[in-house]
Amino acid sequence: MKEEIICGDTIEELKKIPANSVDLIFADPPYWMRVDGILNRVEGTEYDGCDDEWDQFKSLSDYEDFSKSWLTECYRVLKPNGSIWVIGGMQCIYTIGAIMQRIGYWIINDVVWYKKNPTPNFMGTRLNNSHETLIWATKSKEAKYHFNYKTAKELNTDTVDSIAFARGARKQLGSVWRISVCQGAERLKDEEGNKLHSAQKPEELLYRIIAISSKPGSIVLDPFGGTMTTGAMAKKLGRQYIMIERDKRYCKFGEQRLAKVLYEDTPIARAQFDEKPLKVSMAEMIAAGYFKEGEDVCFKSGEPVAKLLADGKLEYKNEIIDMHSCAAIAKGVKASRLNGFDVWYVLRNGNPISIAVIRDNYRKAKV
Ligand SMILES: C[S@@+](CC[C@H](N)C(=O)[O-])C[C@H]1O[C@@H](n2cnc3c(N)ncnc32)[C@H](O)[C@@H]1O
Repeated sequence: MKEEIICGDTIEELKKIPANSVDLIFADPPYWMRVDGILNRVEGTEYDGCDDEWDQFKSLSDYEDFSKSWLTECYRVLKPNGSIWVIGGMQCIYTIGAIMQRIGYWIINDVVWYKKNPTPNFMGTRLNNSHETLIWATKSKEAKYHFNYKTAKELNTDTVDSIAFARGARKQLGSVWRISVCQGAERLKDEEGNKLHSAQKPEELLYRIIAISSKPGSIVLDPFGGTMTTGAMAKKLGRQYIMIERDKRYCKFGEQRLAKVLYEDTPIARAQFDEKPLKVSMAEMIAAGYFKEGEDVCFKSGEPVAKLLADGKLEYKNEIIDMHSCAAIAKGVKASRLNGFDVWYVLRNGNPISIAVIRDNYRKAKV
């Protein structure tokens, strides 16, 4: 298992990583926030925003050059079917999105991270800035990137309320994610008990990203490690990680954080919801004795409709048809095919038994 923290400049360190070697990248780069002066809360206390040295750039072209360099290296190290997530605020995401497209990245989605508890606009001079944007992209339009669709549904608490969720309701995960900013015990503190990092991301955000867009054992790279949130969630989910961070202090604290994280063996971590059932054919089940050549195939009512042939096709009104097309014809629907496993039964001791149930028994016996 690769579990690496590399303390150094990201562009130099990325250059040392082999081409096409990484499955997933999460990048939380400097946003170039351009914070001027001291920000005070309404009651007068000072707000500790992001005015760090690592977030300073001389000009837009300086920021563009930097973004182009690291995004180009990320493009090189990403596997052809890998994917990249880049997070940014309004200060940088448009610049980054344009550069990504020029490099050749193909955008799959942009996701709005809606902060349930955003920092207020203290002066009341403009809208409260309550979201950040994530760009999810691949190296090309043709990339067969990894997406755990059903796992994403299991993590969708944004559009399904908790009572319905507990009762088993699930919906497709959308592109607006309601997640709190990093706070409380999750927030790393320095030796004096102060906030260690001004831009630590919430674990829930990284957990979701890694769980839905990688698989167990995948190599996850973060070129701007910070407090190592990405590494922590990769480890929890049983993925490998490479974290790059320039600041030695963040590397030290991050190392301590990662040492405490353990793999949690859960259906989400294993991507169990997205496991594909074993592919089996009717012909092989007939050969194995689970069905009989020539036996009657019927509807749920038990009414015989067709006869099963040795190759798994059906003889229906003197024609030989595959069982899915035959299901559509026999049911008289407009569609040219229905899933035969949802339609067909066979009579066993006078009882209609679903062929899907018999297939499940065969699969269980096979594994
Ligand atoms: C927005 S923060 C990342 C925070 C991180 N996602 C977390 O949850 O803690 C960006 C980080 O990139 C680091 N950084 C900035 N420029 C860098 C460079 N050229 N090479 C390596 N690290 C860099 C900064 O020190 C900072 O910790």
